Amino acid sequence: MNASEASKIYDHAIEVLQENDLGTYTVPTRGLYPFQWNWDSCLTALGQSHYDEARAWTEIETLFAHQWPDGMVPHIVFHVWNDGYFPGPDVWQTGRPTPTSGITQPPVAAFAVRRLFERAKDKELAVRHASALLPKIDAWHRWFYANRDPHGEGLVAILHPWESGRDNSVDWDEAFERVPTAGIDPYTRRDTQHADPAHRPTKEQYDRYLWLVQHFRALGWDNSKLHDASPFQVIDPGFNAILIRGCSDLAALAETLGEPEIAQANRARAEMGLAALEGLWSDQHGQYLCLDRTTGTLIDSASIGGILPVFGGVPKDRAHEIARGIERQAGGVRFLVPSHDPADPRFEAKRYWRGPAWLVMNYMIADGLQAIGETEVAGHIVRSSLELIAQSGFAEYYDPLTGEPCGGGRFTWTAAMVIEFLKQAER
Ligand code: DGY
Repeated sequence: MNASEASKIYDHAIEVLQENDLGTYTVPTRGLYPFQWNWDSCLTALGQSHYDEARAWTEIETLFAHQWPDGMVPHIVFHVWNDGYFPGPDVWQTGRPTPTSGITQPPVAAFAVRRLFERAKDKELAVRHASALLPKIDAWHRWFYANRDPHGEGLVAILHPWESGRDNSVDWDEAFERVPTAGIDPYTRRDTQHADPAHRPTKEQYDRYLWLVQHFRALGWDNSKLHDASPFQVIDPGFNAILIRGCSDLAALAETLGEPEIAQANRARAEMGLAALEGLWSDQHGQYLCLDRTTGTLIDSASIGGILPVFGGVPKDRAHEIARGIERQAGGVRFLVPSHDPADPRFEAKRYWRGPAWLVMNYMIADGLQAIGETEVAGHIVRSSLELIAQSGFAEYYDPLTGEPCGGGRFTWTAAMVIEFLKQAER
């Protein structure tokens, strides 16, 4: 891509961010996702920081203003009523002053805050905002280990596929079979009115998503009860890698900001997590796998969730093996990184998290590979990401075989990641 193309794409990315910016938070895209989503916002702040640092801090602070008293940061904040999305606050019924969902999402906040802090031009502003966020993010990390790892195994479970952010991954299929559907209230989906139903989760999956929401709602959203009461408890290596990376980043930030207790607690969490992650490694697949906590067995599904641990700082030999696997996948797809192994018959090129490529995943995977010295594969992923944008614009996700844009259009976090990639290339 030449400099003039890059500059056009950069300007276009800022336009997308600004058009989805509602002042103190950004919606992922108009129509399909009209509220504030947790990990979308944290990654979006990275893009915003290149043209407005204060606005970037606000994005994350708005999210944390809706942290629950127990420490959880919810996956959606329903700031303003909008009936274009289902399930809305009337279904969740979490009883929060500003309605929120009752589950969480991948904890990328610490990573984003450290990155914002370290490259901030306005250092005074950065110290002020990072210092205020530090104990809140620490409380969220503590919440994870207390509520999602109640037996101290070192890894946290997700209790709902929406928590992983990879809603309909093949990873959940088997465990999801155990989630009943009887007794769910009648409902009308709105997502399939905004996006092609063939690119979205199926009705059977939605029935189970809702059964879990109703089940947790009946338990009063009491996080001390949900883990053991959930028929779905899956340990996602990608989710845990994000948390581990977050703990390491928060520890480093806390050291800089003179908070040794927070630093020590998070360093210990990261070490414990990395050691436990080893138990999810599969020699057969050359990557990590999910673990079904209810049966104690690894799930035979080679998804991007098992590639993402490179972002968490896994050992060099593991990262190398994963990098080789990505190169192998590159032989079967035009664009990296497919969210599921294209050689697996369950791969679906256009269906959300069952095959499509996502720029946020590419960003985190490339970041981890770069840090560990796998620079060639990291560079390949970045080039592939920018080629996708040049060909297909700022979509939610892309068919990795053809590059066809899928899901929602003019997508905030895609634009934010493009800004990050272009700025990194400048350095
Ligand atoms: C959705 O509604 O598709 C979201 O991914 C749930 O957060």
